[in-house]
Amino acid sequence: MINFILNMPTKIIFGKGESGRVGEIVQEYGTKALLVTGKTSAKKTGSLRKIEQSMQQAGIQYIIYDQIEPNPRATTVDKGGQIAREEGCDVIVALGGGSTMDAAKAIATVALSGRPCGEYIRGNKTGKWKELLPIQKALPIVTIPTLAATGSETNNTAVITNWETGEKSGMSGPGLHPKAAILDPELTYSVSAAYTADGAVDIFTHLYEGYFSGDENANVQDEITEGLMRNVIEYGRKAMDFPEDYEARSHLQWTSSLALIGIANAGRGGGFPVHGMEHILSAHYDISHGRGLAILTPAYFEYIVKGEKPHRLARLGRKVFQIHEKDDQVVADATIKAVVAWFKELEAYGTLQQVGIEKEKLAFMAKESVRISGLDGQYLPGPRNITSEDVLRIFEMSY
Ligand code: NZQ
Ligand code: ZN
Repeated sequence: MINFILNMPTKIIFGKGESGRVGEIVQEYGTKALLVTGKTSAKKTGSLRKIEQSMQQAGIQYIIYDQIEPNPRATTVDKGGQIAREEGCDVIVALGGGSTMDAAKAIATVALSGRPCGEYIRGNKTGKWKELLPIQKALPIVTIPTLAATGSETNNTAVITNWETGEKSGMSGPGLHPKAAILDPELTYSVSAAYTADGAVDIFTHLYEGYFSGDENANVQDEITEGLMRNVIEYGRKAMDFPEDYEARSHLQWTSSLALIGIANAGRGGGFPVHGMEHILSAHYDISHGRGLAILTPAYFEYIVKGEKPHRLARLGRKVFQIHEKDDQVVADATIKAVVAWFKELEAYGTLQQVGIEKEKLAFMAKESVRISGLDGQYLPGPRNITSEDVLRIFEMSY
């Protein structure tokens, strides 16, 4: 196991109906909130009204900023930051999926610094992120996830897209750790089957990235990872079939938070190459993050993981999919098949062509993914160094 520092400062309030306590929770951090949410779902489901009522009862002033789009844009963040500054907001509350929570974290940063969000995005051409990251200070943030997927509710990263430059990447730092996260699984009942599936794939990917790319002598982390994988496989499907099953939704929500809170990768490290590859696709084609991951995963397993880490694929197959053959190569092959079968069951399996990606842009995007998300812009760290030629191969295999 490699040395590590694990800092998980976010207070987690978990359970049925707990979002109704947001007012009293926010009181600890501020008096005037920018209430950040998406354009549609929170109004439609009534969750926004519930949050407003609680804030009113607690005497918290608030301004609603309901302009966040999926794959949130730097320009939307900048507008939100400006409003927060002009209105004198001293706390940012996020109600929504990963896009909303990420945008809220970026708004909390921009509101305090007055700098454009685009400068913070890791890997951007201006190079300013090198001085600005890690982010030490932002306004206090309270998250209320309405979709189980990204783990943004309890981690210190925001993934933002600069649509003008085609750059999508993370900004992160201790200042972005939410002060509190209110996990109320009932808020996720209304998530569609398709987004439930995409969320499950995203959670699974957060778990396998470090499992394949990090230190192999971290058995505690591996066992945590495998347990969380079994959960997401079981309850992802159940939540699709029974959207209002509290146990399924609560298991999925908690798995989502634990997958990327830091526990699984502390002492293991490793890169997130499939994320680097997906982010360039959603930066150019605005596809759902989880769907992009589902499309790329089989080729990544086949082309990179099977060659470099067949024993790790085999371990995953034995521990998660109960494939009990002796030979590692045989189990590795069967594991890829089992993952594909699970994606098909979730109706998340597909090709880049099916989601509208143009073949002639693949080579450009492969280069850009390594420039933006790669180590020193040279390669994506994974089970081995993944070059732009490798990324192009994976894109082509996924087409
Ligand atoms: O936009 P609204 O109207 O809110 O609707 C959303 C959106 O259309 C809808 N939705 C959310 N909660 C709902 C709901 N619909 C019905 N009922 C509810 N309760 O779902 C759609 C997708 O929402 P979005 O927030 O975009 O999805 P997700 O949570 O998957 O977030 C994806 C974003 O997070 C980034 C992704 O790259 C992407 O930009 N990520 C953030 C990470 C982080 N901060 O650590 C890590 C991830 O790997 C990821 O990169
Ligand atoms: Zn992800």
